[in-house]
Amino acid sequence: MPEQREKDEFSGTETTGHEWDGIRELDNPPPRWWLLTWYACIVWAVGYWVLMPAWPLITDNTKGVLGYTERGRVVEDIKQAKAAQAKYLVKLEKANLEQIRTDPELLDFALAGGRSAYNVNCSQCHGSGATGSPGFPNLNDDDWLWGGTLNDISYTITHGARNNTDDDARVSDMPKFLTDEILEPAQIDDVAEYVLSLSGKSSDKDSASRGKAVFKENCVDCHGAKGQGNQEQGAPKLHDAIWLFGGDKDSIVETVSFSRGGVMPAWGQILNANTVKQLTVYVHSLGGGR
Ligand code: HEC
Ligand code: HEC
Repeated sequence: MPEQREKDEFSGTETTGHEWDGIRELDNPPPRWWLLTWYACIVWAVGYWVLMPAWPLITDNTKGVLGYTERGRVVEDIKQAKAAQAKYLVKLEKANLEQIRTDPELLDFALAGGRSAYNVNCSQCHGSGATGSPGFPNLNDDDWLWGGTLNDISYTITHGARNNTDDDARVSDMPKFLTDEILEPAQIDDVAEYVLSLSGKSSDKDSASRGKAVFKENCVDCHGAKGQGNQEQGAPKLHDAIWLFGGDKDSIVETVSFSRGGVMPAWGQILNANTVKQLTVYVHSLGGGR
């Protein structure tokens, strides 16, 4: 209570009259710097309420006279990014694949675009690191079914393989040697032994030498006399350690008996030409491009 206020006998300052266990509080005014800062904050806050969106209303909020919104800023940012991209997209449109590959600025842009298009469209089948999985080729190595030049890759991506949507899709159908009754199970067993021997794996000698004859008669047209493969036919090499469907005997017997027929969509029908270009350059850059 004000009338009970007393002065502190040491400093001569009035006390607030509050007392805790004999300790009394001096009634000092707040420091001037503090007061000024406080007033400045009030002025700033009022200014902010007027200029910027600030107070929540029942279904809306005060807009502020500047008309600023976060959403508006994002739209503006996207507009600017699009404008920056447009410059490159126009250049990309005109450039051929080889020109893109040799122009560092365009290449950077195409690789970034290709990588993001890859993640959206291709990673489900070819893997997030493009390392592939059984039936879906690894795109990092230089082992190509259909060829690893820019033009080969572009063609494969544009038209796909063995789909029924694009008449120009890559096709070559390995016969189902068992289902189609071309070979007896024993002959398939022999030829599988021979394929094992081609890639340097241990195999049954007698069986493999019978298999060699079967191979010569049925397989060389596509896979080559030494199993070196044929990109015209999309036929994989059989003499290396890279296997699309598996290089153990069971997998080989399965492939020869029933064939596999991997299907790749025709991306030229799904994505625009510019995106296909960027994907081509990106896939080519992954390590195995020729
Ligand atoms: C539905 C699964 C699937 C998707 C999605 C897919 N692919 Fe494929 N891709 C395949 C299969 C299966 C093959 C192997 C075809 C064959 O056996 O001839 C293949 C083959 C390829 C090849 C040829 C590789 C070689 O060794 O010659 C390239 C290049 C390729 N894909 C790129 C892409 C790109 C780029 C995308 C994304 C735009 C993509 N693929 C999306 C399934 C897919
Ligand atoms: C008409 C061409 C053609 C003929 C003939 C053919 N192949 Fe194939 N072969 C292919 C193609 C194309 C593939 C790729 C598989 C796919 O995606 O369908 C393949 C795949 C394979 C694979 C899987 C390779 C891997 O990396 O997993 C094996 C093994 C194989 N063939 C063995 C044979 C044998 C053995 C014969 C003969 C008995 C034979 N092929 C005859 C075209 C042929």
